[in-house]
This record gives sequence, C-alpha cells and structure tokens, in this order.
Amino acid sequence: MSDIESRAWNALNDARISIDHRAIGVRASTDPDRPALNYDHCFVRDFALCAPAFLLRGDTGIVKNFLETVLGMQSRESASLHAYEAREGLMPASFRPVEEDHGTRLEPDYGEESIARVTPVDSVFWWLLTLRAYVLTSGDRALAEREDFQAGIRRILNLALIGSFEMFPTLLVPEGSFMIDRRMGVYGHPLEVQALFFAGLRAATELLDDSDELRDAAVARLGHLRQHLVHNYWIDADGLERLRTEKSDEYGEGVVNIYNVFPESIPGWLGEWLPDDAGYLAGNVGPGRIDFRYFAQGNLLAVTAGLAERQQVDALMKLYEARWDELVGSAPLRIVYPALEGGAWLEVTGADAKNRAWRYHNGGSWPCLLWAFAGAAVAAGRQDLLERAVAAAEERFERDEWPEYYDGHNELEPGLRARRLQSWSMGGYLYAKDCLRNPSAADLYRWSKEIRPEEASPGGRSAADRPG
Ligand code: GLC
Repeated sequence: MSDIESRAWNALNDARISIDHRAIGVRASTDPDRPALNYDHCFVRDFALCAPAFLLRGDTGIVKNFLETVLGMQSRESASLHAYEAREGLMPASFRPVEEDHGTRLEPDYGEESIARVTPVDSVFWWLLTLRAYVLTSGDRALAEREDFQAGIRRILNLALIGSFEMFPTLLVPEGSFMIDRRMGVYGHPLEVQALFFAGLRAATELLDDSDELRDAAVARLGHLRQHLVHNYWIDADGLERLRTEKSDEYGEGVVNIYNVFPESIPGWLGEWLPDDAGYLAGNVGPGRIDFRYFAQGNLLAVTAGLAERQQVDALMKLYEARWDELVGSAPLRIVYPALEGGAWLEVTGADAKNRAWRYHNGGSWPCLLWAFAGAAVAAGRQDLLERAVAAAEERFERDEWPEYYDGHNELEPGLRARRLQSWSMGGYLYAKDCLRNPSAADLYRWSKEIRPEEASPGGRSAADRPG
C-alpha cells in the first residue's frame, strides 16, 4: 500500500461503529467540525462501497457483522398494510447505536426520520451486492445458505417483484429513493435504481436456493429488464436522429415510440455534446419522458453488472474519453451532467439551496464514484482510464481530507457543505487502487457473463414489445 492508501485505510478504520467489541459498520463521516445530523449513522449504501476495502484487506468480520445487523433490521411487518410502517422486506437507509441505561440499542431509519422523508429503495440491493462480495471473498457460502439469509433474500424479491400498478420490468420508485436522496427530478424509473435492481437480482439468483420459485421469477425478470433498458434507455447519435423523425400518438401493437416522447423535448446541448461514436443510457424513461441527463453511477453499474451490450460499453468509454473534463475532471467523478440551472433548478428541485447548479447532487463531483468507475474501466479493458482518473485525484483527495463531494463546473473546490473524512470517499478510492493493482478485485461487483434475454426468459415477450 502507498502512504496515501495507508492513511486512508487508517482513517476509514477510525470510522468503525462497534457494539460489544464487534465492528458492525462505519459512520458516514467522522468530521468533528460539522454538525453530525445523521452522518454519525452507518448508511447501507455507503458501507457497500467500503466493504471491498475491508474484504480485500482480510477483515471479513466487519462485513459479516454488517450483513447480519442489517438483516436483523429488515422489516418483517405483516403490517405492510398500514401506512407509516416499513413494508415487509424493506431495509433501512441507515442505522446508529443509541446508548441506554441497560445497554446499546440499534436505531434504524427507514426514511421516516430522514430529510424530506425519502424512502431507501436501494438499500436492499446494496445489501445483496455486499453479501455476494462477502461470499466471493471469504468463501463462506454457508452464511448465504443460512435459513435467515434465504428468508431475507426472499423477502427482498417479494417486495421488488410483486406489487406494482405497472407492467414494465423496471421499478417505479419515488423521488430521492437512492444515493440522490433529495428532490432532483429522479422519481419514476431512474437508471441509477434500475441498474442497481439488475445487479441486485443477479446477486439474488446466485445466492438463493436453486429450487426456489422466486429465483425463477428473478431470472425471467432479468431478461426483460435488460432488454428494456438496453433498448429504451440507450442514447446515441443514430437513436437521436430516429427520435427526431419518429411518429407520436401511436396506438396498438408494433409501436416504435412506445413512450410517446416528443422530439421537441430533446435538449439543445445534447447534439453538440455527444460525439458520433459515443453513447450512454438515459437518466430516466417513462410516459412522455426521457431524462437526457447523464448519470454516472447507473451507467457505470450497467457495465459492471453485464447489463450494457459490448458495443455500448465501448461507446460509453468513448464518451468518457471525449468529455473527460466534464465527466471526470480534477476531482472524479461528476455525478450528473449537466446541472439544472435557473428556472429548471427552481422547478425541479423546488429551489433546493444545497442543490444549486454544479453543486452537491446537481452536477457536483463525488470521490466515492471512483468505486463504480474502477469496476467499469476494468470490465471494459480500459485500466488506462482508471489510472488517469486516480492519478488526477489521489493527492488532492488527501489534501482536502476526503471530502464528501466537490462543487463547481470547471474549477472544483470541496463542497460548501461537504463533510470531510467521508468514509465512502476513502472506501471508493481504496477499491480503485485495489482494482489497479489487481484487476480481479473488480470481480467483487462484476458479472462477466452477459444475460441474454432468450436465456433468461424462454419464450417471453419484453415489455417493449407490448402494446403501448
Ligand atoms: C447524503 C447523500 C447520501 C449518503 C449520505 C451519507 O445524504 O445524499 O447518498 O448516503 O449522505 O453519506
């Protein structure tokens, strides 16, 4: 380990949360100079990005304890029929230990305490991904086979696969239900959640008992989901041209423009920005709507999870090369491009001051995303890009004390309200270094075998083929 890595590793260890001398997670940040709010919690999504650093340095114990702890907090309410109660299968966004007279109690937050009361749709999938990474590294498959773990996986699949008014394979989710947990126009079918859903289903199919019917349902859903996403979310120059000339208001079978998207909604910046040989998956697709913003995590996860097709992977890497300064820059990586400005910011975010243009979730840059870039670059055979991104960042990250995020369009500076010593900034960096040293480290969150729709759903018709 280099000196920077050793210091990041030590700082990450200082963030451990322990109960009865058992480490069960890490605090989101240990910055002593900012109000804790809920940054003293262990967030499930944040820990999932820190887990590889522990696993690859031989500390499988903290990850196992985290998995058991979060499973223990999974909602089992058959009270799913009641409002204000976490639906059966839901896992919390975060948890913290609370000292009481007779011992320590764990307090989960399913979103009922969080700013703007956002629901964490993503936690269950991060938990599945962490479990798979743990099993791959430790060889302890017995943990996943334990009855309580099998039951937990089944609860997740029940929650995710059943119960929707829609017939599409994607998940319909509320605003801010994942890493972007504030109002940013990310309700509906955001790519960030769909790619994670896809990866989570892949993990579940590997971890669940072969004879389980839910496993078959998950396999079938994977095929439909992949077909739907690679077909309906993909944006490139040819696709834009087709969209400009497509018909609208079509009814019935065989419709091409199934979501009835109007060409006037293609934003002006896009044509100039997108090179002819590049492409990416749109941020969100739904009735009358394509969100053309570029979202980093969903696109990168689509590569590592084996969702994107090979030529799409290459086209995405070409986009990164062509638009390096905007998407990677001096403090990798940009979370979304472009930012919402002026009237769009006012209307879409509700004038959220933290999310002003090119700040925080609205076009800020997040060191933790190096995690996703590492896996995608290795999967694409482009370690050279990963090397370039890490070289640009590491000294700066350390100098700035591992900020949560950076603000700025061209000139970046640590975010106005960013915490320092942010665990997943350190965890993402350590994982990127591990992937550079040893590309097989990327296997922890990677699937090299593609899911072919015909394999996964014999005889099934994709939602894209259904009447519009
Ligand atoms: C913020 C981020 C969220 C993260 C949490 C803890 O709420 O938006 O993604 O999990 O902080 O770091």
